[in-house]
Amino acid sequence: MHSRRFTNSTSAYGATRALAFIAAALFTQALTGCDNAHGDDANSAAPGAGDSEQTVLQNATNLIGEGRETFRHDTFGSEEFWGDSLLLHQAILGTGLGGVGEGVNPETALALGLKVDSEALGADLRAAILAGQVDMKLPETTVELLRRDAVVGLRGFFDAQNDLRSIGIQCALCHSTVDDSFQPGMGVRRDGWPNRDLDIGAIVASAPTLAPVASLLGVTEEKVRTVLRSWGPGKFDAELLLDGQAFRPDGKTAATLIPPALGMLGVNMHTYTGWGSMTYWNAFVANIEMHGKGTFHDPRLDDPAQFPVAAAAKLGHIETDEDRITSKLAALQFYQLALPIPTPPPTTFDTSAADRGEQLFNGVAGCATCHVPPLYTEPGWNMHTPQEIGIDDFQASRSPDGRYRTTPLRGLFIRSRGGYYHDGRFRGLIDVVNHYDAHFVLGLATDQKNDLVEFLRSL
Ligand code: HEC
Ligand code: HEC
Repeated sequence: MHSRRFTNSTSAYGATRALAFIAAALFTQALTGCDNAHGDDANSAAPGAGDSEQTVLQNATNLIGEGRETFRHDTFGSEEFWGDSLLLHQAILGTGLGGVGEGVNPETALALGLKVDSEALGADLRAAILAGQVDMKLPETTVELLRRDAVVGLRGFFDAQNDLRSIGIQCALCHSTVDDSFQPGMGVRRDGWPNRDLDIGAIVASAPTLAPVASLLGVTEEKVRTVLRSWGPGKFDAELLLDGQAFRPDGKTAATLIPPALGMLGVNMHTYTGWGSMTYWNAFVANIEMHGKGTFHDPRLDDPAQFPVAAAAKLGHIETDEDRITSKLAALQFYQLALPIPTPPPTTFDTSAADRGEQLFNGVAGCATCHVPPLYTEPGWNMHTPQEIGIDDFQASRSPDGRYRTTPLRGLFIRSRGGYYHDGRFRGLIDVVNHYDAHFVLGLATDQKNDLVEFLRSL
């Protein structure tokens, strides 16, 4: 039973010494707190490395350490935009021109879906919080969390007086959560998990000025705030700055759900609409969405009909004197590929129903023709027209190929909040199954639909 599934990525490849070695190395790093991120040249062998396997393993370990550092901690110079330009740090302090005048205390920050890295808090602050000695209603406490680099995905920059002077963002902001082991919203980092609690729109809308975004889009700041506030938790619109389309034809937000940044090994096209490979998208996001300082090339964005904003601003031809992104792309990709896919707790699905569901998935329901196990996406070009999957073309038409990418399905349980499909249009897995049942005229019985759902829960 369950022979089809990897129980987790470590055991899936358990037979290979390579990953066992890497896991051991990471474990040692975790224990020693040495993250190997600085100093080592990821692409060079350790001196006297001996046989080539040793060299390869050392290289892999270095890349993972370096990539993790980038994923968790690198702002790519984005503080020039979020802090220096939008003054987002002033919204935290409550000293801003507009936005939230009262500041962002830790309770508000957690309510906005921001997560706190409990390990970074330090033993003293953890003890003080547990003893009730820390005022979680004080914006200054948020600043102290930033001083300790404990707010996942945000990095504060401090002046000589140790006052907050700017703020930058990291990949971990949207693609990490914590395990809540210390308190709700506070715990050990879970890299690659989508933060479906994060109301990034509300956070950005609180910036004292949005003039740079408004002028790029050619609309008023108030309009930008309205759009940002329409996103809601777990959603972000990565295409807004390309085409300026904020709402779908039905009036709902054009934002999409934040996907995981793990479970990507063996997967060809990335993003819901297949913009490109993982490293393509990492470069896209770091430059265009995070507003880091780097180099980016994509002449597809020159099409003024499809991407009026990007074409006018030449977003497909970004150059800078000080590239802080390109040199990080290799290790960043390697780290994301190495992230294990979490397995659902066995109590969360019915094993025998899941086994029956698997037969249907691979058989009469036809799911496996696109979601090919064990990748659960097509090996090869994993793209489909809107008609093929029976949905509208709005989001697909905002991408170069006009198609939707077959979503890899393993670890579905870590994205159960916010619904399914790119925009969360299907509330539960049963709604997804009902959609396919109707679209492909499968004629599934109620029991069969439930079995399919249990199988999806088990992935
Ligand atoms: C503000 C939130 C946010 C930040 C910050 C962010 N992402 Fe994303 N990421 C998203 C959203 C939303 C999508 C889906 C975009 C789409 O399909 O149009 C996405 C898609 C992806 C994908 C494709 C996933 C898939 O299913 O194919 C990868 C990989 C990824 N991001 C990695 C990164 C990396 C690496 C960084 C840092 C350089 C980063 N992201 C920063 C929100 C974010
Ligand atoms: C023709 C190819 C194709 C077939 C057949 C197919 N899917 Fe999909 N599936 C897709 C595509 C493409 C998406 C992405 C849709 C989107 O995000 O808008 C998707 C998305 C999903 C999702 C949502 C994942 C998420 O994270 O939001 C689930 C669940 C799913 N499919 C399950 C199934 C099941 C169960 C079947 C069989 C009944 C099936 N699929 C048949 C192509 C297919």
